[in-house]
Amino acid sequence: MKPLLQIIIAAAGLTAFTLSTEKDFLSSNTGYARQQLNHMLKETATRDSLAFPRTTDAAGRMTTTSMYDWTPGFFPGSLWYSYEQTKDPAIYQQAIRWTEKLEPLKDFTQHHDLGFMMYCSYGNAYRITGNKAYRDILIQGARSLSTRFNPVTGSIKSWNAFKSWHGEQKYYYPVIIDNLMNLELLFFAAKETGDTSFRHIAVSHALQAMKNQIRPDYSSYHVVCYDTLTGKVLARETAQGYADNSTWARGQAWGIYGFTMIYRETKDPRFLKTATGMADWFLNSRNLPADKVPYWDFNAMQKGYTPGVRSYANQVTTKYRDVSAAAIVAAALFELSQYQTPAKGEQYRKTAIAMLHTLAGPAYKAPEGQNGNFMLMHSVGSIPHHTEIDVPLVYADYYFMEALQRYQATLK
Ligand code: GLY
Repeated sequence: MKPLLQIIIAAAGLTAFTLSTEKDFLSSNTGYARQQLNHMLKETATRDSLAFPRTTDAAGRMTTTSMYDWTPGFFPGSLWYSYEQTKDPAIYQQAIRWTEKLEPLKDFTQHHDLGFMMYCSYGNAYRITGNKAYRDILIQGARSLSTRFNPVTGSIKSWNAFKSWHGEQKYYYPVIIDNLMNLELLFFAAKETGDTSFRHIAVSHALQAMKNQIRPDYSSYHVVCYDTLTGKVLARETAQGYADNSTWARGQAWGIYGFTMIYRETKDPRFLKTATGMADWFLNSRNLPADKVPYWDFNAMQKGYTPGVRSYANQVTTKYRDVSAAAIVAAALFELSQYQTPAKGEQYRKTAIAMLHTLAGPAYKAPEGQNGNFMLMHSVGSIPHHTEIDVPLVYADYYFMEALQRYQATLK
């Protein structure tokens, strides 16, 4: 073994692993991912050509959404990661095909998720192919996303309206923590065009989220509702978490990933402090199971936390896990580890590797050809809405593949 590789292995704390077993682990999982994607491609060929894989139904069959939901970018994005991992030309063709279906989204302005929709698809497509047409589509997408920014709130509006779980109250400027993820598209557009307004919007949004969405202990609120006349916070509630004062696991994961990416783009130490604080809160929570796959909400069914009267969370007595949150955190920790002191970076990297091994184990990764041809089992879409409970989700697979990709990049 070369000395450099020995150092990497030692730095990762992989005492039980060798470089060769880790390379085998990666090649077996990237091979498995390609197989599942191929099975899914066959299944999609039997459906409407504009139906995008999302999850499974009660019979375990793949279900889909239109391109205007928030998740259509993840299947093309997974195809791009698979192409990077396998160099399979058939996957490349499919990645192009599935990405280009999304072109109409460049003018979409009806919700904030354009970053997920376009950067996971066209962003990966441009990174890998360098096709300038993809760059232009991304920039137009960033313009569309920017239309949802209001200088009074300093934030991008997530949804056009949010109805509280507590009753009939509606809010018309809700901002959810997930929205941090959409800023990557704006940072991209700022760099590509030199137009600083994209960056100004992204930084303003991130600062407002840091101030209003993150608690002093670095846990997070899901939804912050603003008054558009004064810019003041009207309410802090939850849409997909257990209670307003609880910490929804995927929301915390979006925060860890989002602030890590924002630090990469800005080098502002306040964002690194926030990303690190949120990661430490997640990893050190006494409510995190030993295998680090979180319950869907860190405070589900705990004393002091009460769902709104209309929330289905009132009726759920099982503490479901959310594998999607673990996959997002694993991918984020590979990056966050690079911005730390060596000791702390090593701790994050070891944790990311351990989480990846857990996700790839039999408790969470489906046998080939099963699980509606999705990879990971046991995620949660939204318990309060009574939807997608203990199911595969296309974005859990995407971040699993991204974590594999990020791990692979460190072993080269
Ligand atoms: N961005 C929506 C979700 O995480 O469910």
